[in-house]
Amino acid sequence: MGMKVGIIGCGSITKHRHAPEYAANPNVDEIIFFDRNPERAKELALEFGGRVAETVEELYEDPEIVAISDCSSNEAHHINSTNALLNGKHVLCEKPLAINVECAEKILEAQKKSGKKLMVDHNQRFTKAHQKAKDIIENKELGEVLTFKTSFGHEGPESWGVDKTNGTWFFKKGRSHSGVAGDLGIHKIDLIHFLLDDEIEEVRAFHGALDKLDENGEPIEVCDNVVCALKTKKGRLGTASFSWTYYGAEDNSTTIYCQKGIIKIYHDPKDQLIIEMRDGTVVRYDLEPIQTNDNQTNSGVIDSFIDSIIHDKEPMVTGEQALATLKVIEKIIGE
Ligand SMILES: NC(=O)c1ccc[n+]([C@@H]2O[C@H](COP(=O)([O-])OP(=O)(O)OC[C@H]3O[C@@H](n4cnc5c(N)ncnc54)[C@H](O)[C@@H]3O)[C@@H](O)[C@H]2O)c1
Repeated sequence: MGMKVGIIGCGSITKHRHAPEYAANPNVDEIIFFDRNPERAKELALEFGGRVAETVEELYEDPEIVAISDCSSNEAHHINSTNALLNGKHVLCEKPLAINVECAEKILEAQKKSGKKLMVDHNQRFTKAHQKAKDIIENKELGEVLTFKTSFGHEGPESWGVDKTNGTWFFKKGRSHSGVAGDLGIHKIDLIHFLLDDEIEEVRAFHGALDKLDENGEPIEVCDNVVCALKTKKGRLGTASFSWTYYGAEDNSTTIYCQKGIIKIYHDPKDQLIIEMRDGTVVRYDLEPIQTNDNQTNSGVIDSFIDSIIHDKEPMVTGEQALATLKVIEKIIGE
């Protein structure tokens, strides 16, 4: 017998990743969808199979539901994920874990109290190019990492979320909280922590609302661009740029400079990983294009979450790791 899973929030990330990936997982029997806008839950239940819960409590109180994905907007994670954990459900929470460190700590406390799994969807860890880069760094094939450069930018979330207007919650301080920093930046901060087995400790950052306007034609309340310089606990130095105003091809690239050469990730659409050695040798890996808003492939996140439940393993992205990443985001936006 497979398991039943619930999903809270039936917007774009549920439609593109959680619902199709649960539907494709052989250990999942049924998906129960809940959204405070019931039409959205109905639509996804029709598209992917499953049923609709009328209230969120229905999910919490159903003893057959083993796990819940929290795909609500950022301001609700600390409420939904905490309640789900305290009601005995394993939780896969969308990033950012919460709107601030205090709220994130509430979720972590609930996880400890419940003894259930908490995983956070920092899906960049799962891509083939990032996994391969991690192996190369871990095996010290290029010696030690010295510096790094990373960016994540696209044309903005108003063409992604269910509300495809400038009134989107992604632009609201009270709901997104940290703008592009918590939306895209958080992915790359987590990636750097993961690849380097290190933690960013010091931050110098500039951020601003340079171009996006809200539904009233006013500059948005959160940042649409960030540039920053970063220093890790182990003394590595790096730079990062996060943007909602790259009005062309998406940039999802990272460069890691090591003692014996350079690792270039997602610079070339064909060879996602390129190693340039100090002696002139170049090794190119054609692995798999990264998922973008227009190219949705299986991220592996749901399979990994289900696997951690079935085999009682520590999730690939823990609450503690997501909290460490969130702390860097708070430093970046200066809170
Ligand atoms: N991991 C990733 O790569 C990735 C990508 C995009 C979005 N996300 C994250 O996923 C979450 C959802 O984003 P999205 O793009 O799907 O947004 P969206 O606006 O498309 O959808 C959000 C949905 O959640 C519902 N909702 C909000 N609060 C709720 C609540 N308290 N109870 C029930 N339903 C609620 C809304 O009605 C809406 O249908 C956000 O935290 C976002 O940062 C992660």
